[in-house]
Amino acid sequence: MVRTPQRTEQTVHTQVNGITLAYNDRGSGLPIVFCHAFPLNRTMWAEQEKAFSSQFRVVTIDLRGHGESDAPLWRYTLDQAADDVIGVLDHLSIREAVFVGLSMGGYILFALYRKYADRVKGLVLADTRAQADTEEGKQARFQMAQAAYQKGPPAMADIMIPKLLSPATIQTKPELVRHVRAMIEGNPISGIVGDLMAMAERPDSVTLLKHITCPTQIIVGELDLPTPPSDAKLMADQIPNARLTIIPAAAHLSNLEKPDIFNDAVREFIGNETR
Ligand code: MLT
Repeated sequence: MVRTPQRTEQTVHTQVNGITLAYNDRGSGLPIVFCHAFPLNRTMWAEQEKAFSSQFRVVTIDLRGHGESDAPLWRYTLDQAADDVIGVLDHLSIREAVFVGLSMGGYILFALYRKYADRVKGLVLADTRAQADTEEGKQARFQMAQAAYQKGPPAMADIMIPKLLSPATIQTKPELVRHVRAMIEGNPISGIVGDLMAMAERPDSVTLLKHITCPTQIIVGELDLPTPPSDAKLMADQIPNARLTIIPAAAHLSNLEKPDIFNDAVREFIGNETR
């Protein structure tokens, strides 16, 4: 069964792989495609859309199960998410792009690179990791799925916000916290649980790293707990010629907590490495 989401007039939708996906497509020039984190939606990229769409073609996508896209009850894998992203790009006649993925968005970019390396002009891997889940990590996902099912998305927001944002952000930026909470609470349980299963089952990508031949930028918040700087360093050490930026005083959602530093890193990367 497919949910009928609330749709806004400005949102653009397309049918991809049997479901409806929502996206924004703003600006022109080199395409930059943004893949969001778990359990958020494409509005987490609002600051990047604003900063880059005067110079580039910026595409932000609500992944299946999120925001204004459909949330079917099954078919959640990271390969499926990569196929969905490529389906949107095919619809937009975009052959090649720079891809930016944060956390789960980064996991999806590893899947996308495995299947569609020829579509990738550059990669920005932010607050993410190449390792698969440990057994304890999988168990934690199972428990989180039970909590989401039994208590609903507001309970997910309570669990996730301290993992996503720094204590200072939580104390001093109530609007940002409200935005993150609204994104989490706007996702149906099928999407949240689908993501948890997909992430638990994802393969290890460490062995892929040395085969990534496109220009790559790694970004991580200094205070990131779910995917700490040590994970970023591992990727930067193994991906040939990768650049690494560590953002001071940012936690997991570094693009939201320190958008100016995040955007400068992306802009410099695109300017120097992908033109
Ligand atoms: C995310 O931000 O996408 C998640 O923290 C990723 C994860 O749970 O592994």
